[in-house]
Amino acid sequence: MSQKNEFPNFPADCKSMLCKYLTKEVFEELKDKKTSNGFTLKDAINSGVKNIDSGIGVYAGDEESYTVFAKLFDPIIQEYHGFGPNDSHKSNLNPDDLDAPNPDPEGKYIISTRIRVGRNVANLPLGPAITKDQRNQVEQDVSAALNNLDDKLAGTYYPLTGMSESVSAQLIADHFLFKAGDRFLEAAGLNRDWPQGRGIYHNDEKTFLVWVNEEDQLRIISMQMGGDIKEVFTRLATAIKEIEKKVTFSYSPHLGYITSCPTNLGTAMRASVHIALPKLAKDMETFKAITDKHHLQIRGIHGEHSESEGGVYDISNRRRLGVTEVQCVQDMHDGVVALIEKEKSL
Ligand code: ADP
Ligand code: ARG
Repeated sequence: MSQKNEFPNFPADCKSMLCKYLTKEVFEELKDKKTSNGFTLKDAINSGVKNIDSGIGVYAGDEESYTVFAKLFDPIIQEYHGFGPNDSHKSNLNPDDLDAPNPDPEGKYIISTRIRVGRNVANLPLGPAITKDQRNQVEQDVSAALNNLDDKLAGTYYPLTGMSESVSAQLIADHFLFKAGDRFLEAAGLNRDWPQGRGIYHNDEKTFLVWVNEEDQLRIISMQMGGDIKEVFTRLATAIKEIEKKVTFSYSPHLGYITSCPTNLGTAMRASVHIALPKLAKDMETFKAITDKHHLQIRGIHGEHSESEGGVYDISNRRRLGVTEVQCVQDMHDGVVALIEKEKSL
């Protein structure tokens, strides 16, 4: 990275929200500001400057980043979530409020269901600004809290340090573990000291998992084969409550759960299915009209920035802030019902 604190040169065809909202005026106003953890504008934008194909391009180093650099973050939050600076967030993790019968009881379309939330520990910097010692402490505290879980949530914490190449490759291929070397995270400072301080906790069945110190300090995940969305949500809600007994998470009445990427603020929830839609895949215009109507996002089957294989897609809620967790899952459920109906008609 150039050592100079100069306005970055984006190519004319750059489509990220960073290049859209980082005007020269905003840059001049923010370029010498710093949060109390020493996080600067240059740190916040480095991922989008280095990766000009970013969709968003910015990361926060701490909760304060969202106010110190509000001139840049606010319009991004507004465009991504439709959420304004005076709006407030509401949380609802009560499974009784969710109306989500299995959209595919015969198992013809939905392969698996997964719901995750991001969480970060209160009063600590986020991953892009955390120190090595703080990160290792998070790993210690969180793994100790997880090792205390019982019944169906009981499991084991596996640190990345010392994990064999073949074990981690298999966990990644099976959709359980995060990938190494993501270039967006790398430029955001989120891969510093890799692999130290990172790891994965899971129960024997691998239906409940926690990623430690990836993009967020915790990614709490519930997943299983098939389309029983409510069961997956219920397990997740129970797990969150249990972990909250031991760890206090960073939460603000305005932005909800604080995460390093502004797309994850609020509920920090992504509820997805892996679903086979081979016929609809041949008509992406119709496919996209349905996903847009239901506020859904389409990803490939190896996660973000991957491609679909064999007509199988990862379909998830797009909105996360200003809507409750129940609404996020409801968006996904209702959209999946509409997608299956369309696929059947083709
Ligand atoms: P995140 O979920 O944290 O936003 P990714 O999009 O990279 O991150 O997904 C993480 C992993 O979870 C990937 O291996 C992805 O294939 C897997 N995954 C996502 N949704 C499902 C699902 N419904 N069933 C099985 N695996 C899934
Ligand atoms: N920084 C990446 C981009 O702008 C990812 C943004 C959303 N995804 C995420 N995992 N936070 O394209």
